Amino acid sequence: MERLLSGMQPTGVLHLGNLEGALRNWVRLQKDYEMFCCIVDWHALTTMYNRTDEISSSAREVAAEYIAAGLDPEKCSIFLQSHVKEHAELHLLLSMITPLGWLERVPTYKEKRENLGLNEESLSYGLLGYPVLMASDILVYRAQAVPVGKDQVPHLEITREIARRFNFLYGDVFPEPKAIVNESAAVVPGLDGRKMSKSYDNAIYLSDDADTVAKKIMSAFTTETKIRKSDPGIPETCVVCQLRKLYDPEGYQTSWEEDRRGERGCVQNKRELIDIINASLEPLRIKRKELLADPAQLEKYLEDGAERARQVTSETLTIVRKAMNLR
Ligand code: AMP
Ligand code: TRP
Repeated sequence: MERLLSGMQPTGVLHLGNLEGALRNWVRLQKDYEMFCCIVDWHALTTMYNRTDEISSSAREVAAEYIAAGLDPEKCSIFLQSHVKEHAELHLLLSMITPLGWLERVPTYKEKRENLGLNEESLSYGLLGYPVLMASDILVYRAQAVPVGKDQVPHLEITREIARRFNFLYGDVFPEPKAIVNESAAVVPGLDGRKMSKSYDNAIYLSDDADTVAKKIMSAFTTETKIRKSDPGIPETCVVCQLRKLYDPEGYQTSWEEDRRGERGCVQNKRELIDIINASLEPLRIKRKELLADPAQLEKYLEDGAERARQVTSETLTIVRKAMNLR
């Protein structure tokens, strides 16, 4: 069986972008692959180093959300990055062979620098090294593929470059992992039309109750030039229509056509979407609550996951140390 690794940062609870862009794919793939689903709490430190208590509680919530969304902890290993120390050892070794220029060019690094308003003084070594740690997460499992959202593709490119460089220097150890992107949900739009993201405050969370989802969708951007019901809408750029397509792939077309012809208003569109999304999220909300009500069981899942992960990672590090003459 081929091996897959993926991860998310516990910087908060998950939103529909995480669910549709990445997590749904993981759930589908767990049947056919040996899956490792990592909660990358060390990565979260790159931006939340002064709020470590939040990382730890959010990691448990993310674990509950993975399982509530359909990941089976018996089938795939769910664990915290910080529980598997080999990620850190490989990170150190890979950092020695990764040129600085590769890291400075990574688009997410540039974005974070700008979004967080960081100047040279407050830029940390860890933030620049983020992609090296991510490469270690993947390579330490010698994973063949990584299911992620489209925004992570540049990180995978650098992972492949690092693997190639390692193999060139020390012999063939790592496969070059490819990205598996769910094209139908490559980028889930947020309520304001930008990419759904926690940092834009435009997200619908798996933890939102039905009323919160309703309020949020009522406030979503539609078509700016559609003021009256009879004005034509532009479904391609309307957040509500886009989410409708994602959550109602069989039936959305009629509503899109009516929107285009000015035969339906945004309020009707929003009301219908609220019902569709709430119906889809309800089972997940119930399961999430149950899991969080039993923290001991959740911890057990995470311990078992880490144990299985360590079996693979310790083997990889034995190979790596030997290849690098670290005897
Ligand atoms: P993040 O929350 O940015 O750490 O992302 C975790 C995972 O969710 C990654 O695989 C992302 O590619 C995916 N993801 C995050 N936001 C979105 C979005 N708006 N649309 C699609 N995928 C997303
Ligand atoms: N960078 C990823 C994100 O922000 C999180 C991540 C860290 C990851 N390590 C990984 C994703 C390994 C896939 C594989 O979403």
